[in-house]
Amino acid sequence: MACQRSTTEVRSTLVVGNWKMNLLRNEALDLVAELGRLGAVANELVDVVICPPFTALTSLADHGMHGIKLGAQNCHFSQKGAYTGEVSAEMLCDVGCSYVIIGHSERRRDYNETDAEIGRKAHHALQVGLRPIICVGELLEERQSGKTLEVLFRQIDEIVETAGADVVSKSVIAYEPVWAIGTGLAATSAQVQDVHAAIRAHLEEITVSGAVPILYGGSVTAANAAGLFSCQDVDGALVGGASLKAQEFAQIVHEARQRTR
Ligand code: 13P
Repeated sequence: MACQRSTTEVRSTLVVGNWKMNLLRNEALDLVAELGRLGAVANELVDVVICPPFTALTSLADHGMHGIKLGAQNCHFSQKGAYTGEVSAEMLCDVGCSYVIIGHSERRRDYNETDAEIGRKAHHALQVGLRPIICVGELLEERQSGKTLEVLFRQIDEIVETAGADVVSKSVIAYEPVWAIGTGLAATSAQVQDVHAAIRAHLEEITVSGAVPILYGGSVTAANAAGLFSCQDVDGALVGGASLKAQEFAQIVHEARQRTR
């Protein structure tokens, strides 16, 4: 189901591909070249970002990105030091990133990332010039027991407490219900609009700018993108599996263009 979107107030749309732990360098280069051929690139109303694994960042930056911006999937909260296996925000800037995903539910689940750590990461990333894409989302049992907003607000409040309202105001929020990630069961446009509107109102209450872009992520496809982009409070999408398929991702970018035309 599509939801209403006012035609008088139009914010730009952000389409972000999260490649997760997929693609070797040559495969990454081929995919970006194909996206370029398909015209899945940024224009003045749609920003396109891809977040490949760390290992592909330099190759992609060196070979040209057809106007697509580069992001990373994580960074450390410290500037440098004895953190074996970690990558700093400065290192990501150094290889040409302008965005970084922070606090993805897979990192919360698999590496026990806390909201306080996510706040520290966002704070540091912004300090060095990376725009954080901060992920929040509820588990299936939390939604089923009516706790969705309570969980999201708790996550946001703790991140804001650590990072500061100013940092979150300059970030991007991604609402990714955990039950919708990789399941093919995207939230409906109506569910997404309700949550995004509540998040925006809550951000304003806690003195974060209500103009923060709020993306939806979780089983976004070419088929459901138009409905999601028609929602007043949906400013774009964080796309996992579908971002690995050139045609599918290009179609999602196309739907974003239609919305802001
Ligand atoms: P899917 O689009 O594969 O559900 O993944 C969503 C996601 O986790 C993006 O960060």
